[in-house]
Parts: sequence; C-alpha cells; structure tokens
Amino acid sequence: MSDRSRQPVMRLSGRVALVFGAGSSGPGWGNGKAAAVQYGREGARVVAVDINMAAAQDTAAIIAGEDCQAVALACDVTRAGDVVAAVEETVARFGAIDILHNNVGITDMGDLEAITEERWHRVMDVNLTGVFLTCRQVVPVMQRQ
Ligand SMILES: NC(=O)c1ccc[n+]([C@@H]2O[C@H](COP(=O)([O-])OP(=O)(O)OC[C@H]3O[C@@H](n4cnc5c(N)ncnc54)[C@H](O)[C@@H]3O)[C@@H](O)[C@H]2O)c1
Repeated sequence: MSDRSRQPVMRLSGRVALVFGAGSSGPGWGNGKAAAVQYGREGARVVAVDINMAAAQDTAAIIAGEDCQAVALACDVTRAGDVVAAVEETVARFGAIDILHNNVGITDMGDLEAITEERWHRVMDVNLTGVFLTCRQVVPVMQRQ
C-alpha cells in the first residue's frame, strides 16, 4: 500500500469514519479495506463494517496495530435492521459520525439471457438499496451534530 516511511497527515483527528464494506473479499487489499486503514492513519476513529465479520475484524486489527482506534461490526447493508444497529452502535461508542463511506459493491457477470431476475435484484439491493439505507440512517445523525 502506501509508503509507511512517510508521516501521514493527521487531517482526520477527532473524526469518526463509518465504512461499510471495510473488509476485502479476496486476500490482500480491496478499496474499502485500504480506505478504512487510511482513515485510521490520518487520525480518524474507524468503524469497519462488513457482512463478513472476519474481514471487518482483519481491517480493524490492522488499524489497531498501528495504534489507531477501530472497531469491527457485522452488517448486511440490504437489511434495514442491520444498518440501524450499526449506526446506533457507532454513535453509542463514538458519539458522532463525520464520514460515511459506502464501499459495498458486488458484480454478477453473465450472458444477458442467463441472468435471472433474482440475481439482478440482488445486485440492485446490495449496490443501490444499501446506499439508500445507510444514507437514510446516517445523514440525520450528521445533521444533528
Ligand atoms: N478494487 C478495484 O480496483 C475496483 C475498481 C473499481 C470498482 N470497484 C468496485 O468497488 C466495490 C468495492 O471494491 P473493493 O475493492 O472494496 O471490493 P471488495 O469486494 O474487496 O470489498 C467489498 C466488501 O463488501 C462486503 N460486502 C458485500 N456484500 C455486502 C453486504 N450486503 N453488506 C455488507 N458488506 C458487504 C464484502 O464482504 C467485501 O468485504 C466493488 O463493487 C468493486 O467491484 C473495485
């Protein structure tokens, strides 16, 4: 990733970053994992959220290993109740949300004729409804701050 010999600029000291999709679906680095770690390096307290708790914990452990503050939460962004719980937990722990990062995304490739409506709706749910649900929950918190 970044050159760790360079001192990070602490632009996010005191801020709280809530990252949905903060794990990585493969080994190594995905966008969400990299962004979450970078938020931590720049001083933010990071809430690493993922449907895959082990992946979220991996990201949070990297951040904590660099003496930065992070917690991992499990949440499926297509489930409104999960999103409500993740946002409530974030506010309970850190009292605010300054950054909402909607990184969750999936792809489902295939021949047009082979793609079922079920597969189509799953992609729409994860990639679009998830963003709606997180924004609906987080924006009012930001507006109250
Ligand atoms: N990595 C790239 O170079 C790149 C470039 C352009 C676009 N993208 C797209 O950006 C998105 C994110 O990229 P990435 O590299 O972080 O991908 P990634 O797959 O490594 O990470 C996405 C994370 O989202 C999680 N996730 C999936 N469904 C979820 C759900 N319903 N609720 C909560 N978490 C869920 C996964 O478990 C995974 O940890 C993907 O859609 C990807 O296709 C990636």
